[in-house]
Amino acid sequence: MTSTAINFNQVAYLLITGASRGIGQRMAIETSRKFKPGSIVVLLARSASGLESTRAEILECNPHINVVTSSVDLSNASKQLLEDIIDKSLSKTPVGSFELAAIIHNVGTIGNVERKAVDMSDRQEWEEYFATNLFTVGVLNSCFLQKFRECAKKLVVNVTSKACLVPFKSMGFYCAGKAAREMYFKVLADEENDLVVLNYSPGPVDTDMTVDIQGRSNAEEIRNYFKGLRETTTILTTHQTTEKFISILEAGRFSSGDHVDYYD
Ligand SMILES: NC(=O)c1ccc[n+]([C@@H]2O[C@H](COP(=O)([O-])OP(=O)(O)OC[C@H]3O[C@@H](n4cnc5c(N)ncnc54)[C@H](OP(=O)(O)O)[C@@H]3O)[C@@H](O)[C@H]2O)c1
Repeated sequence: MTSTAINFNQVAYLLITGASRGIGQRMAIETSRKFKPGSIVVLLARSASGLESTRAEILECNPHINVVTSSVDLSNASKQLLEDIIDKSLSKTPVGSFELAAIIHNVGTIGNVERKAVDMSDRQEWEEYFATNLFTVGVLNSCFLQKFRECAKKLVVNVTSKACLVPFKSMGFYCAGKAAREMYFKVLADEENDLVVLNYSPGPVDTDMTVDIQGRSNAEEIRNYFKGLRETTTILTTHQTTEKFISILEAGRFSSGDHVDYYD
């Protein structure tokens, strides 16, 4: 069995989605800090200014790598656009020159938490939710793996959630999306023995997403859960969860395709 331990101190190509803020921004900064000169980091999200601030912070800690930003709406990005983004970011660098090729599928939206499952009858709402959180994730992942076929070490990370295992009231779109998305990555891990696939569940983290759930969820117990975490300051910071994420990958004490939680 191939080792799942990842050495970030290499010439790497990293593509990360949802890198303009929150968990994705911190993961991009902390992993990039370790890369060797000649590495390429590609940051995707909609907010150009958010991406630019992530880029600036990465270059402050590691000026010898190349950071490419691409402002893109992943709810409707075509396969062609995603392939073009990867091709442009490489600018003729042969993929075989990277010691590590990594993709972090961090993008995620909470969906309409004002709806209960019984009221989820709007087909367009389902389609829009799954477009961002599942369909583009799968398309992008395939584009990436086809491009980096020759690269010796390949890492695929899905930022998942406990919500893919346990139902949470008001989070019908989110729970269904995370469950489907994680199963796709488990099938991928089963089929491709040369990949390291990690489904990382970051725990409850202080980001815009949890502020939004706390403010808008139709379920009082969900609003109170996040309120309680904030009041007791037991909600995690993006730094805490990213530190754990990197230590899990560096130690490699998981099998490809596993779901590993911050609290495991
Ligand atoms: N926070 C938590 O407690 C928690 C717990 C478990 C799992 N997670 C998972 O962790 C991941 C990150 O969550 P977070 O809390 O950091 O969320 P966040 O603060 O809301 O950040 C979401 C990121 O996704 C990007 N994004 C959203 N819609 C997009 C779109 N249509 N096209 C392109 N990019 C888009 C956002 O950038 P733009 O707005 O600039 O596009 C942003 O960079 C998600 O997959 C989430 O499900 C979070």
